[in-house]
Amino acid sequence: MGKLDGKTAIVTGAGRGIGRSVALKLAAEGANVVVNDLDSTPADQVVAEITRAGGNAVACAGSVVDPEFAERFVGTATGTFGGLDIIINNAGYTWDSVIQKMTDEQWDAIVEVHLKAPFRILRAAQPVISKAVKAERETGTEVNRKVVNISSVAGVFGNAGQVNYSAAKSGVIGMTKTLAKEWGRYQVNVNCVAFGFIQTRLTTTPADGDATIDIEGRQIKVGVNPHLLEMATMMIPLGRPGTPEEAAGSVAMLTYPEADYISGQTIVTGGGLEG
Ligand SMILES: NC(=O)c1ccc[n+]([C@@H]2O[C@H](COP(=O)([O-])OP(=O)(O)OC[C@H]3O[C@@H](n4cnc5c(N)ncnc54)[C@H](O)[C@@H]3O)[C@@H](O)[C@H]2O)c1
Repeated sequence: MGKLDGKTAIVTGAGRGIGRSVALKLAAEGANVVVNDLDSTPADQVVAEITRAGGNAVACAGSVVDPEFAERFVGTATGTFGGLDIIINNAGYTWDSVIQKMTDEQWDAIVEVHLKAPFRILRAAQPVISKAVKAERETGTEVNRKVVNISSVAGVFGNAGQVNYSAAKSGVIGMTKTLAKEWGRYQVNVNCVAFGFIQTRLTTTPADGDATIDIEGRQIKVGVNPHLLEMATMMIPLGRPGTPEEAAGSVAMLTYPEADYISGQTIVTGGGLEG
């Protein structure tokens, strides 16, 4: 018996990093998972991993910033698995500069992916959830649904060089608090997890110090300079960065029945980091 047997989850940016670990964890607890990523290759690989382990998953590739995406994503859950119980808004990347060098393009891209895309997904989910709740109440059943939005310590405490990202990730916290109030009547728990330093490709330090990722044709510089990384690690009370599995653990636990009375909260998963 898994904690999430019979539930259906949708996870954005689940082809690698933290999102991948979240998808694997939810599936291991019995959830059907819709796996999104920009390209079908990483999404299909995660679907294959879940299927090999005996779980149920389907890919829904595409960019979360595409205006048509939210309806298609929610529709994949209802069309393939007949419902929608868990929404994890995780997809995103960083595109850093100090404010005087930050372009409108940089600002808009980061606010779109981290804030507008989750807003659209949640908006598209509302009619599905309200209809399901109405039908369940007619038969005398009560179902808890879960939303976990991914934020960052940059959104909670601020971070030099990330005015776009920290603004978007703060916005995610505000959106979480508001939706916890709007969706309490549907028994939807809406929470947020703000990560500190988790080891993924966003925070890698390649030997040549020059990591870029391809986001819809744009080459975006990611990674952290090794000196800064060492300093950042020294600020973490647990003395080390977190793994994607540890990060996913804090997301997954908010989807379990044990968390049915937690809503509107932001958990900082940062090894004790405070500011
Ligand atoms: N790694 C950290 O230290 C850290 C810290 C704080 C917050 N976060 C947040 O955690 C989340 C996951 O990051 P990660 O570290 O696992 O990074 P990652 O790069 O390993 O994984 C992110 C995934 O999101 C996908 N993605 C990016 N833009 C997308 C789009 N437009 N549509 C669909 N998919 C898209 C990428 O292709 C990638 O597979 C992000 O929201 C990030 O901001 C990470």
